[in-house]
Amino acid sequence: MMNNHGFTGVIIRPMETDDLPKVLDIEKQSFPIPWTYDMFCDELTRNKYARYFILEKDKEIIGYLGLWHKETSFHITNIAITEKFRREGYGGKLLKFVEKIGTTYKIEKISLEVRKSNYMAQNMYKKYGYRTKRIWKNYYREEREDALVMEKKLY
Ligand SMILES: CC(C)(COP(=O)(O)OP(=O)(O)OC[C@H]1O[C@@H](n2cnc3c(N)ncnc32)[C@H](O)[C@@H]1OP(=O)(O)O)[C@@H](O)C(=O)NCCC(=O)NCCS
Repeated sequence: MMNNHGFTGVIIRPMETDDLPKVLDIEKQSFPIPWTYDMFCDELTRNKYARYFILEKDKEIIGYLGLWHKETSFHITNIAITEKFRREGYGGKLLKFVEKIGTTYKIEKISLEVRKSNYMAQNMYKKYGYRTKRIWKNYYREEREDALVMEKKLY
């Protein structure tokens, strides 16, 4: 649990399966090919590398972030903020939270993939110090869209 000065009523806590209906609502607003209940459930119950977090404001779920923790790396799998609360700093709040726990776990780098067309997310990652390392052609096969691989080194 983390309390946040300047963001009244905001906490970040681990995701639980009970959170999934609300998470799926946000997921559907946020991605062209949303993850399903089963995909999230697998992550929460079977993937030993997976860590998922909920961002609540005044006890309402308004965002989430998932990552895989492998050795000295974090790989962000998912981040979204509900439409109504976008552009108020909550996405950045989740990224800063991840960095903070990364320091605790001696994480050396945080990486992620982002659609080439997703400028809002790319801007957010750039603002928080992520840089484009490579481009994977047609990574999103259905739409033949490229992925940018972005990365931030912590040490
Ligand atoms: C990407 C996302 C998580 C950002 O969350 P957010 O809470 O709105 O982000 P913040 O308010 O912390 O914004 C941080 C920075 O991101 C960039 N940004 C966010 N929204 C933007 C937009 N609509 N247009 C341009 N830049 C944007 C800006 O650089 C912003 O900093 P600024 O407000 O000082 O200019 C949110 O837009 C979202 O849920 N999108 C759909 C899901 C998604 O694309 N996830 C990323 C997958 S890789």
